[in-house]
Amino acid sequence: MGTYETKFWNVDEHHIDHSNEYILEAASLLKKQEVVAFPTETVYGLGADATSETAVERIFAAKGRPADNPLIVHLANKEQIKEVVEEIPDLAHPLIERFLPGPLTLIFKSNGSCARNVTAGLPTVAVRIPDHPVAKALLEACELPLAAPSANRSGRPSPTSAQHVYKDLYGRVAGIVDGGATGVGLESTVLDCTGEVPVILRPGGVTKQDLEAVIGDVEVDSALDNDQSQPKSPGMKYTHYAPEAPLWLIEGNLSFFQHQIDEQQRNGKRVGVIASEEHASSLSADQVQTCGSMQDLRQVAEQLYHSLRVFDPEKIDVILCETFPKEGMGEAVMNRLSKAATQKISQP
Ligand code: TXA
Ligand code: MG
Repeated sequence: MGTYETKFWNVDEHHIDHSNEYILEAASLLKKQEVVAFPTETVYGLGADATSETAVERIFAAKGRPADNPLIVHLANKEQIKEVVEEIPDLAHPLIERFLPGPLTLIFKSNGSCARNVTAGLPTVAVRIPDHPVAKALLEACELPLAAPSANRSGRPSPTSAQHVYKDLYGRVAGIVDGGATGVGLESTVLDCTGEVPVILRPGGVTKQDLEAVIGDVEVDSALDNDQSQPKSPGMKYTHYAPEAPLWLIEGNLSFFQHQIDEQQRNGKRVGVIASEEHASSLSADQVQTCGSMQDLRQVAEQLYHSLRVFDPEKIDVILCETFPKEGMGEAVMNRLSKAATQKISQP
């Protein structure tokens, strides 16, 4: 790896379609089984021809992703879903109507038309129709289903700008389409539709409440509920969404938070802080990054991955981040933060 002279195309997301010259150039690379990063409404994706095992293998190689983690298949429109799944169960139709295109990934039984390494050998396939003009133009231009994980090195925070992709994947991919910052900021909700009742496997851009308003009861994968409140031993490292410095979640009032900062600084550490705009100005540390408002968790979601990456070029030894209510988008925000954190410190 590290052998590509990565192409970088700057496109205007407001004036784009499948005949744009840069989109055509990116599409022609995709047709030659190369991998290209592109913006979606959630995060940047790293796309490759989902029907080609060789192309998909290049995604895993570029990201350093474990081969047993399946990829989402991105489609240009609803009609294409039929081309990759065995059948669309009845319960999914209202979801497709209401939420697609959009930040919802649906899991169906696969019809086997995608390459085996896309689904990691599973009998199911995850499909998504991104709601972003650049993603749409590229999908239309290449006329392929595109397997596309988030366009970060495995274990790093997902990219919400082309610069994030550049930092992680320059030299490892054929091209990057820069269509500006993404909107939602966290990945799509992954919903398993293969059983009687749909199950959320990953919270994301469409909340549980949004889904239940359309189809009634939705379950949440029990693995998502495991209690994170037990302090974990420092050094026990998750390999997801992680910034370069260790991230600690701080649950407690502002004076408890400040006490944690002071204690680390007394130990000679340079401390970074991620906090809501309501609380950031009350906290004193080596560097404080605001991350949206407690009153609007969609803002927090939008800014979260950028906030996690802000400290990478700085000499920061530890990042302390406040916790957010697990309501609405807060569910997805806390899911990502819990995975990124090496420990959580709660006020007794
Ligand atoms: O918003 C998004 O979903 C972004 C953009 C680029 O579309 N993509 C994304 O892909 O987040 P990735 O690979 O980072 O996450 C895909 C998730 C993983 O948690 C994977 O395990 C799950 O979807 N997944 C994919 N196929 C699956 C399947 N057949 N069964 C269960 N889970 C699946
Ligand atoms: Mg990812």
